Amino acid sequence: MKIALLGFGVVGSGAYQIITSQPDCGISIKRALVRSLRPAPAEGLFTTDFQEILQDPEIELVAEAMGGLEPAYSYVLAALQAGKHVVTANKLLVCHKFAELTQAAKTAGVQFRYTASAGGGIPWLFNLLRAKRLDEIQAISGAINGTTNFILGNMHKNNLPFSAALQEAQRMGYAEADPSADIDGLDLCRKCALSATLAFSAIVREEDIPTAGIRHITEADIRWAEERNMTCKQVMGSRRQGDSISVYVEPAFLHADMLEANLPIRSSIAILEGKYVGRLGFFGAGAGTLPTGMNMMQDVMDILHQVGRLHCFTEPARVDNSLLQHTYYIRGEADIPEAQERGDGWLLTKPLPVAQMHAMAREAEKAGHPLFFASIAQE
Ligand code: HSE
Repeated sequence: MKIALLGFGVVGSGAYQIITSQPDCGISIKRALVRSLRPAPAEGLFTTDFQEILQDPEIELVAEAMGGLEPAYSYVLAALQAGKHVVTANKLLVCHKFAELTQAAKTAGVQFRYTASAGGGIPWLFNLLRAKRLDEIQAISGAINGTTNFILGNMHKNNLPFSAALQEAQRMGYAEADPSADIDGLDLCRKCALSATLAFSAIVREEDIPTAGIRHITEADIRWAEERNMTCKQVMGSRRQGDSISVYVEPAFLHADMLEANLPIRSSIAILEGKYVGRLGFFGAGAGTLPTGMNMMQDVMDILHQVGRLHCFTEPARVDNSLLQHTYYIRGEADIPEAQERGDGWLLTKPLPVAQMHAMAREAEKAGHPLFFASIAQE
C-alpha cells in the first residue's frame, strides 16, 4: 500500500524511519508534505503541494502528523472525501472534529484511525475500542501526559524544583511548544475527552471536563505527599453512572499501593475497567518520535490487514459531575470552613464536590492568589 505523510516533524519522521527499516511490511511512503522544500531522505519524497498527494491515485492512505486544526482538518477531510483512508496522530483535530471526520469516512467507505493521538506510543485507544466489542466499559483513568509525568517524576526522584523540571522536559522534547497545554492540564483534557468519547460511545467535549493542572505545585507539596507515602500525578478519570458519565482532569496524590504511583519517569499509563474483564492497564512511552510514529504506522498496518472497524458517534455525552466528590489537599488561601486537618499553609478537606474545588481554584487564580490542589487517591 502506497501512503503519504502530511508533516515530517517529530512523529512523521519517526514513521518514515520505521517504514523504511521494514521493507517487507507492505507499506511504502511515496510522498511527504512539508512546509518548505529541503533535502529529502529519498528523491521526490517531499512536496509542498497537497494537491499532488490528493490527486495521486496510487496513494491509498494519508497519515497526518502536522498538528493543529488548520490546514490539517481541510486536508484530512479532502483525503477522506477522495476515497483515501486516513490515520492521524493529531489529538486537537480528532478531539474537535471527531463526528465530522468519522461521518466523512463512513460516507466515503474508508477507514479513519487515530490511535497515536492519545497516549503517544501506547496502543490505548485501539485496545479501548477492542475491549468494547464484547464488554461494557465502566470507567477509564490514567496519567497519559508525558510532560507532567516527567516533571513530577523528576520533582520526586531528583528533588528538582518545578521550573527546572519543566525546562528539562522542554529540552527533552516532551512539552508542547507552549507548555501551558501540558502544565495546565489541557493536553490531558483532550486525551480524556477522546478516551471517554470512545469508551462511552458519545461525544465528550473539552469544555465538559473540569480541568486543573500542576502550574502552581512546589517542592513543599511533593514533600507533603512523600511523607504520607504518596506520589503526585496529573490524572484523568471518567466513569459511567446510569445514562450519564462523570469526568475530570486534575493533579492527584496517589497512594504507593496504586499501580499508577509506581511508573518510571518517562512512562504513561491508561486503564480501562470493563464490566467483565475488570481492570486492564496499558503502559509505555506516552510521547516521542519512534513510539508515536510506531503507533501511527500500526494503524496503517491494521487498515492494510483489515483489522478493526470505523466507529462513528455523533450524540453528545450526558456529563453529570454532581455526585463526584474527592478529598483534597490544598495549599494557599481557601475558603473551607470545615477541614479534616490543617497545617502550615495547607489543609485537607472533607469529601468535596469536584466542581466546587475546581471553581474555587479558578476564582483564586483570577483574584491573583493562585492555589495548588490535588485529590487524595488510594486503591
Ligand atoms: N505534550 C504531550 C505529552 C505530547 O507530554 O504527553 C504527546 O501527546
